[in-house]
Formats: sequence, structure tokens, C-alpha cells
Amino acid sequence: MNVLVVGSGGREHAICWKLNQSSHVTHIFCAPGNAGIAEIATCVPIKPTDITKLAELAIAQKIDLTIVSMDEPLSLGIVDHFKEKRLRIFGPTKNASQLEWSKYFAKEFMLRHRIPTASYACFDQRDFALAYAKSQDPPIVIKADGLALGKGVTVAKSLEEAKIAIHDCFDGKHGQAGQKVLIEEFMKGQEVSIFAISDGKDAAILVPAQDYKRLLENDEGPNTGGMGAYAPVPFVNMQLLGKIKEEIIIPTITGMASEGMSYQGILYCGLMINEKGEPKVVEFNSRFGDPEAQVVLPLLDEDLFELCWAVTEGDLGKFKEGLHRLDGSALCVVIASKGYPINYEKGIPIDFSRLNEPIEVVSGKNPQTLESILKAKGIIFHAGTARDSDGRLVSNGGRVLGVTAVSDGLLDAQVLAYKLCERIDFEGKTYRKDIGDKGMV
Ligand code: AMP
Ligand code: GLY
Repeated sequence: MNVLVVGSGGREHAICWKLNQSSHVTHIFCAPGNAGIAEIATCVPIKPTDITKLAELAIAQKIDLTIVSMDEPLSLGIVDHFKEKRLRIFGPTKNASQLEWSKYFAKEFMLRHRIPTASYACFDQRDFALAYAKSQDPPIVIKADGLALGKGVTVAKSLEEAKIAIHDCFDGKHGQAGQKVLIEEFMKGQEVSIFAISDGKDAAILVPAQDYKRLLENDEGPNTGGMGAYAPVPFVNMQLLGKIKEEIIIPTITGMASEGMSYQGILYCGLMINEKGEPKVVEFNSRFGDPEAQVVLPLLDEDLFELCWAVTEGDLGKFKEGLHRLDGSALCVVIASKGYPINYEKGIPIDFSRLNEPIEVVSGKNPQTLESILKAKGIIFHAGTARDSDGRLVSNGGRVLGVTAVSDGLLDAQVLAYKLCERIDFEGKTYRKDIGDKGMV
């Protein structure tokens, strides 16, 4: 089977890496891909938003299945376009992915189907929004309705901050996305990312993950696309997972079907778990998270191609008893460019040569090279990387690498991932040193 993956991040590298292990997959194409993906796939320089060209590519290369796990092309209707052309594609339709691209739709939907979430009010006029914010006790959560490159949410600690966020939305800082503004109750608790795969009728849950969204240690600094992740998350036990499935995932899938928007693809539930162990929805996304995919997919002991294919056949029922997963933990540290997420340079050389030096391994015994350990337990996923005109590996984005380790325990995975990070040379490399700490119990 020929498969096309749309996108170019660490998430897409993880998807291609997992598909590459499938006995069904003969060739992977990726548009546009990156330097790491290019080692296992044919990268084609087409933008993920150029839906027409992507469909032409799928026809020309006889692609059997296209996998999309990016918000923008989904919101533009890539799935609808491919289906019109009778091309098989994995992902929700434009209408179904509204759960991600309209926070207002998602909130109203949750209200209709009694899915637990923060209370909220929605405004399309600045004065009313400002007046409502004044009536709330901080922290106040302000959200632009639409897709805003992950920058549309402000958790305001003061009324002043809330006002600025409201003005930003109505002044057009997030373009069309900020024409409607949601003001939400602040939820306390621990965040967790739960991914369900659904064919519109049945759903199976993947291993729970936790994402580190802030730039700096102890969750300080600006919000980013995600600076690291680990899985599984110890406090998400079977009982809590059962509750999440019963109160959130099943009502969402059946609710979408009952409203004529059958949900096929990945449903990403960003949840807040309060101290009583009650889950509430922070947000829905209609795709895998990044970096979460980089820890969830290495622990998945199923053929990703078979799963995605089953979804497109409406035949996921055979997996609903549960997905097999590897024992142990996975941890991913994102190495970003200096200055990310605000300003950063591209084209900085990345050097992996020190990975060849011998080190004492975590579990002791004979010295081995990191490269040999890497082969067994570590995976360096590429995000913003490219080759320069001399063929050298260089940075090409804010998030550059997702350094991932899989091991029997979370601590081992953490030690190994950080050893790998230390030995990757790249000027200005920036990463958090506390990824996984929240999971150590
Ligand atoms: P979102 O883009 O909706 O995931 O929001 C970004 C981040 O803002 C989330 O990961 C949470 O940390 C925080 N957040 C969003 N909504 C709320 C809320 N109602 N209560 C507390 N924190 C929130
Ligand atoms: N890691 C957060 C996201 O993918 O939206």
C-alpha cells in the first residue's frame, strides 16, 4: 500500500516511523515532510493547505490511504475534497473537525450532550465581553473562537490582563479567529491528553499522555506548541479512563453522529482532572497532539496502518475491546531553537556525531555507544529540520527535534532522553529539564 502523510512536524515523523513498521505499507510519501522524515519517506514539497495539489499527488502516485493529523487542512475540508475524488483518507470532515476549529461550536455541543466542561459565555461585541469579564473573579480564561496557531488562549491572572486579551481579539490580532470571544471559568487540576480513535460508531483509547505547554521549567514562560511529553500518566488509572470514556468520549462520538457529523479519525481530548478525580474538557482537537504523538505512537503495539484503514472502512469494532500497548514509558524532550516561540533563526547546523561516543548506560554493565542504545530505545524525531545546499542537517523551525526514549520505567526513559539531548550539538538549543517530573510518583 502507498500511504501519504500530510504535514512536517515531529508528530508526522512519528506517524511515518510507525507506518514504516507496518507490513502493509510499501511506500510512504509525506507532504512536505522534513529531513528526518526524508530518511523513510519520499518528501514532496506541497503545502498541507494546498488541498487540490495534494489530491492530484494522491492520484498520480496511486496513494491507497492519506493520513491527516493537522488542524488547518482539516478545517479547510481536505477530507471532504478527497472523498469527493473517491480517495481514501483518514481524518474528520470539515464539519466534524469543527470540534477543534470552533471553540464556540465545541462548547455548545458539550452543553447539548451534557459533556463536562468549564462554564462559559460567548461574545461577538467588545463592550459586552469587557463588562462580563469585570463581573468575574480572576483567573479569567479568554479564548478566540477559531484556530489561532495555538495563541488564542489567555489565562488572565488579573482583570487588566483579561481586558488586553479581549481587545487583542476584537482588534484582529488573531484575524477571523477572534471575531467571537469565549470567557470561561478557570478550572483547577492536572491536565492530561487523551486520544481516541473512532470510526464514527466505536472508539478505542490510546495511552494517556501529558504535554508540557509552557516554555520554561515549572510551567513558566509563554505557551508553546509543546515542549515535551510523557506517557502513560500514572494518575490516569483504569477507573478514571472508564469515566473519561463513558462521560466524554462515547457521548462525543454518538452526539456527533446524531447531529449528522459522523466523527472518523483521532479525537484529542484535552482534559482537566480535578482533585476529586473528575474529568472536564479543556478543549477538543481533531488530530494527534504534537509532541504527544511522539510518546503515544512508540507505545502503541498495533499496526497503525490497520487501525487507520479500519476507521475508513467503518470497521473499528474489532479493536474496541482495547488497543495493545507496550509495557513501560515513553518520554519526549523537544529541542527548540533559541528565541522560540517568538523569534528564532533557521539554518543552524545540527550535529549528531557525539552520539557515537561510549557512555555508561543507565542500567550499568558494559559501556555502549549512545547510538546503539538509541537503536534499541531512543528515537530522534525531527520537527523543524532540513538539508542545506551542501546536504548538511540544519534547523528549519521553532521546534527542531523531539528526542524520545522508551524504557521500562519513566525515570529510565527520562535519564536516557536527557543523555541524548546533551549530546546533540546545535547552537542555541533550548529545552526544558523537567519533562516527566510530574509523572514520578
Ligand atoms: P487550549 O488551547 O484550549 O488547550 O488552551 C491552552 C491552555 O490554556 C490549556 O492547555 C490550559 O492549560 C489552559 N486553559 C484553557 N482553558 C482553561 C480553563 N477553562 N481553565 C484552566 N485552564 C485552561
Ligand atoms: N500539544 C498540543 C497540541 O498538539 O495541540
